[in-house]
Amino acid sequence: MALNVIMMGPPGAGKGTQAGRFARERGLLKISTGDILRDGIKAQLPVALRAKERMDRGELVDDETMVAIVRERLLRPDAQRGFVLDGFPRTVAQAEALDQIVAERNNGPLVIVDVRVPEHELVRRLAGRLICATCGANAEPPKDGSPAPPACGKCGGELVQRTDDNEQVVRERLKVYARATKPLVEFYRERPTFRIVNGAQPQERVAHELDTVIDDAALVSARVETPVAGKAAVPAKAERAART
Ligand code: AP5
Repeated sequence: MALNVIMMGPPGAGKGTQAGRFARERGLLKISTGDILRDGIKAQLPVALRAKERMDRGELVDDETMVAIVRERLLRPDAQRGFVLDGFPRTVAQAEALDQIVAERNNGPLVIVDVRVPEHELVRRLAGRLICATCGANAEPPKDGSPAPPACGKCGGELVQRTDDNEQVVRERLKVYARATKPLVEFYRERPTFRIVNGAQPQERVAHELDTVIDDAALVSARVETPVAGKAAVPAKAERAART
């Protein structure tokens, strides 16, 4: 059965980093709506060029455009083994549309992970981030604290700042997150497959915590969907407590 994951969290929480790693390790399709839009801008696609102004100001692109992009991507054959969504849904309307698409696919549980990081750390990460102008990868700062590398470690491309990573736009993105996306926690909180992860730890620790909670949520979901005869199809009290 497929495994479907939503990686939630504010800008800079590490959604893209962890979504990429998890999808690679589990053979799932990673879908980053931010990357799709940035690739579309590079390719001069009209729909992405229309979105660019809003992205540069730190605002959200309209729901209709984003739902159409994700729907088309999720219904392709390479998404049938499962997916990891990074940056979608971002509004309640997008979450409702995603529920409908997942119901149509009828293929595996939907696990929702909320990656939490304090605001000062988000601003620090994003203001200092460099990405590759060619392949879009985040530059990996050396672990020993020495200066950032002059070129992309993956393809040798030039390292640049993302146009929405200056401090003023980052603050706007955080406001937009608090207003439009944080309410999604309430939308998902009561689901047996909702989990919270502490994203303010070294990447390896975040990865370990994430893997553990996703596997646990998938297991709980399987038990909820195939209840043993005579037993209620609800998660045990300890399982519900582990979600919050
Ligand atoms: P998007 O590209 O999705 O940006 P975002 O949500 O703001 O997220 P980021 O990519 O900035 O951060 P991240 O959480 O992925 O962190 P990352 O792993 O890169 O969206 C951009 C724009 O597109 C939006 O503002 C909007 O306009 C539009 N858009 C996209 N989707 C949309 C939608 N569904 N609806 C409407 N509009 C939409 O890590 C960040 C940095 O931290 C990196 O340098 C990384 O190396 C570092 N890092 C990661 N983990 C750790 C760690 N554990 N410790 C220390 N550093 C870490």
